[in-house]
Amino acid sequence: MPAVERPPFAAACFVSCNTQQLAFERIQFTLLCGHVAIKGANLRKQGALYSTYRSTRKVLEKVPLFRTAIGYMLEIKSTVVDSSERNRAAVEENFQEPDPYGFARDLEQFRFQRALEFLRLAKPDGVFPSVLGVGCAEGMFTRMLAERCGTLLAVDLSAIALQRAKQRCSDRSNIEFAEWDVRRDPINGTFDLIVATGVLEYILRPVYV
Ligand SMILES: C[S@@+](CC[C@H](N)C(=O)[O-])C[C@H]1O[C@@H](n2cnc3c(N)ncnc32)[C@H](O)[C@@H]1O
Repeated sequence: MPAVERPPFAAACFVSCNTQQLAFERIQFTLLCGHVAIKGANLRKQGALYSTYRSTRKVLEKVPLFRTAIGYMLEIKSTVVDSSERNRAAVEENFQEPDPYGFARDLEQFRFQRALEFLRLAKPDGVFPSVLGVGCAEGMFTRMLAERCGTLLAVDLSAIALQRAKQRCSDRSNIEFAEWDVRRDPINGTFDLIVATGVLEYILRPVYV
């Protein structure tokens, strides 16, 4: 049997378990962007100028070349206007409804199991003494992750999500929660493991992280 190469875990930060998952997260992210964009658009829907823009765009998007060009332009626009404040507003808007990402779905539960499997590979026997969980959302994965941690500091940008996460994990004594922006706030303390799944793709201008 070939030896399994174990990832280093002293300060491991994993974004995705493998390229398939990366692709999957990319799709999720794209869908999410669309969702947020539609929600934002609803607020501005009234303007006549905006409705002209929408109908013109609809017509143009029937031509594949224009559709691609418009897609690129929108991506560039999102990147240019990306900021901590917009990021926060978008996630809080998103968390107006519980479980906006559908983490209860089988597919997401499978993703969580894959992430835990990755951790088992990194440290087959035992727990990680001190862990930082970035972008914990409503704490669904946090709860599972906590079983592999001595202490877990779970952080997120969204105050609403953190509130729900605290409730979900209220019976776990080894988790602390904090509001924290990955692109702005410094990391206080040292950790044996940093877990950031499905989070870094929100940072469209990584130069600010
Ligand atoms: C798709 S969820 C991922 C949740 C969980 N990590 C998972 O893999 O299921 C993304 C989370 O990242 C959080 N987030 C987005 N931007 C952030 C930032 N700049 N700093 C911290 N958290 C952020 C969002 O509030 C949201 O809860």
